[in-house]
Amino acid sequence: MQETISAILAKAQPELAALKTRAEFEAAKARYVGPNGEFTALMKQMGAVPKEQRPAMGKLVNEAKAQLSAQLDATLERIAAAEIAAQLGPIVDPTLPSPDPGPGTMHPLTQVREEMCRILRKAGFTVADGPEVETEYYCFDALNTPADHPARAEQDTFYFPENAKFGNIARKVPGEKYLLRTHTSSVQIRTMLKGEPPIRIVSPGRVYRRDTTDATHSANFHQLECLYVDKNVTVRDLKALLDYIFASLLGKDTKTRFRPHYFGYTEPSFEVDLSAKHLPKVNKEWIEIGGCGMVDPSVFEAVGYDPEVWTGYAFGMGLERLAMLVYGIDDIRYFYQNDVRFLKQFA
Ligand code: DAH
Repeated sequence: MQETISAILAKAQPELAALKTRAEFEAAKARYVGPNGEFTALMKQMGAVPKEQRPAMGKLVNEAKAQLSAQLDATLERIAAAEIAAQLGPIVDPTLPSPDPGPGTMHPLTQVREEMCRILRKAGFTVADGPEVETEYYCFDALNTPADHPARAEQDTFYFPENAKFGNIARKVPGEKYLLRTHTSSVQIRTMLKGEPPIRIVSPGRVYRRDTTDATHSANFHQLECLYVDKNVTVRDLKALLDYIFASLLGKDTKTRFRPHYFGYTEPSFEVDLSAKHLPKVNKEWIEIGGCGMVDPSVFEAVGYDPEVWTGYAFGMGLERLAMLVYGIDDIRYFYQNDVRFLKQFA
């Protein structure tokens, strides 16, 4: 019996060392210690061993059993480690320089925003900022947009629950609701309340509406707002500035036109169209690009400016729409998908 034990152990050692897969391991394990295994059969013979030899033989068998099971454990551990190593792939040295293709490029929206700000800075405008969470006062009331205006309806606008608190955005009217700003025009009010005329600001930023996403709509997008307040400002100044901006951005062959419109915060109000048939993928003569007008006296009153003394113009436009024109992009959703194959075309 002693020889059999030694023979089993001598055979098991090289056999286990050569195993490569879990299936091979399970088969080998069954051959030795399974119900019909060689070693199991050996243990069954213990009953036939004469009584005097049994303690010595028992010790021997137990030792052999421990040795065999240690070898089986080690084999399984080795196979499991090899499986993980195979899943992890080749060894990576994290101290080596990054294989990344280099620094990224500016997003097309950022490029158009920066270019517009650069053009407007040349005309004396400075960049102003405002919060994306607003109150109804700054977004609507102070802009002469009354409570029953459709822009204020729940289905157009993202309101916060009544008990929402924003420590860094003070309510102007006690208990008024917070919302995600629907346009950048709220920055007009914040700027005028903070300072004195003359004022010349450009304010680009993110805005939010309950729009269903499609090729030309997105529930959040970007606008660029301008406000000029001074004495004797006229519609001619407004038209001249818009002509200058679009000629600078899109080329001197670009034309603009005004169509009468209604905005609560301007009087008269216009929609601005531009004609830029030299651009790629533009197949319409006139493309609507934004809204504008002369600041309504009620807006000046809301911020404590004397409307008899001060005049001004304001306009707002969508940055996505502009970028789509500049680059010939036909779907607004590309801007937000972070697909480098799209983004790197505008480097
Ligand atoms: N706030 C308008 C919008 O989101 C755009 C706009 C129209 C801005 C007229 C203005 C303006 O400053 O005077 O559609």
